[in-house]
Amino acid sequence: MKAIVIRTYGGPEGLAAVDLPTPVPAAGQVLIATEAVGVGGVDTVLRSGALAAYGFKEGHIPGSEVAGTVTAVGDGVEPAWIGRRVWASTGTGGGYVEQALAQVEEILPLPTGLSVVDAVTLGSSGVVAHFGLRHAHFAPGETVLVRGAAGSIGIMAVQLAARGGAAAVAVTTSSAERGERLRRLGATHVLDRSGEGGEQAPAGYDVIIDVAAGPDLPSFFDRLNPNGRMVAVGAVAGQPPADFGTRIMAEFRKSLSFAAFSAATVTGADRRAVRGEHLAAASRGEIRSVVHEVLPLDAAVLAHQKMDAGEVFGRIVLTP
Ligand SMILES: NC(=O)c1ccc[n+]([C@@H]2O[C@H](COP(=O)([O-])OP(=O)(O)OC[C@H]3O[C@@H](n4cnc5c(N)ncnc54)[C@H](OP(=O)(O)O)[C@@H]3O)[C@@H](O)[C@H]2O)c1
Repeated sequence: MKAIVIRTYGGPEGLAAVDLPTPVPAAGQVLIATEAVGVGGVDTVLRSGALAAYGFKEGHIPGSEVAGTVTAVGDGVEPAWIGRRVWASTGTGGGYVEQALAQVEEILPLPTGLSVVDAVTLGSSGVVAHFGLRHAHFAPGETVLVRGAAGSIGIMAVQLAARGGAAAVAVTTSSAERGERLRRLGATHVLDRSGEGGEQAPAGYDVIIDVAAGPDLPSFFDRLNPNGRMVAVGAVAGQPPADFGTRIMAEFRKSLSFAAFSAATVTGADRRAVRGEHLAAASRGEIRSVVHEVLPLDAAVLAHQKMDAGEVFGRIVLTP
């Protein structure tokens, strides 16, 4: 089968197409003939080599989210899965392939009416957005700011905060055109990346969901209301400055909270329940998927170039 591997860490040209033997599902696994593969922000981070410290090596296959048809099952897996169309998480890699392996507890039947392309834009990002908001103790009537809202996680956070009864959902983004698209998904105020420019935007926020982090993160503490909570769910702008903790202490009298959130700390059963709800809501048109572009699997280098250039609104989807 065809697969895309990270041959060398660095730029997109380090990705290479290779032929690999079709894998055989081990106990508890299924094999999926992939029809759609989501390209996530974490894939470009992996490709850059920034996660080498976490045990990832060159030769790794990126891609964490696929949809397609189950063609084989390992021991202990109900054979009735064979022939069913599913959404699947493949973990932190293993998705850019024609035949993907997934643990059976990480697959969900694709609801009628939801395309494979739409499904791979929201299965994983919805979990991060949902549990990120929960980690921030978001409650209806509160004001929310989503920083880095133009990616798949931010797009889901905007929609879920709006559906969850937020009093306001402000977003940071780099263009007015993206701002308009985010308004159509539920954003009420559009700010530039520094958090400025929103006409009549709230003076402060109860919750900030931050996909960006990076050097500007501490400046957003100033935008939190008393008892405000910021949750970092990503770091597309890099790590925050080392002294960012002292910036929270400088705001001591506001009782601010900062937390990081990883979906890895959510139980499989909880992830599965929420994904099931999101896929069903999307099939009814209540949650919208944002597909930037559909490209062939062979065009993974181009997809990563577009990601690196900041061109992508929502998600690129690869089709094997
Ligand atoms: N917490 C978890 O469990 C979990 C799971 C999976 C992935 N992740 C993390 O989530 C991140 C990827 O999320 P994603 O795919 O939604 O994001 P993304 O599409 O890579 O980026 C989101 C948006 O951030 C904005 N942005 C880019 N650089 C920025 C900068 N320097 N300053 C401010 N804004 C910037 C861009 O929008 P504008 O140009 O419009 O500003 C971009 O569209 C990665 O850090 C990944 O590791 C976390």
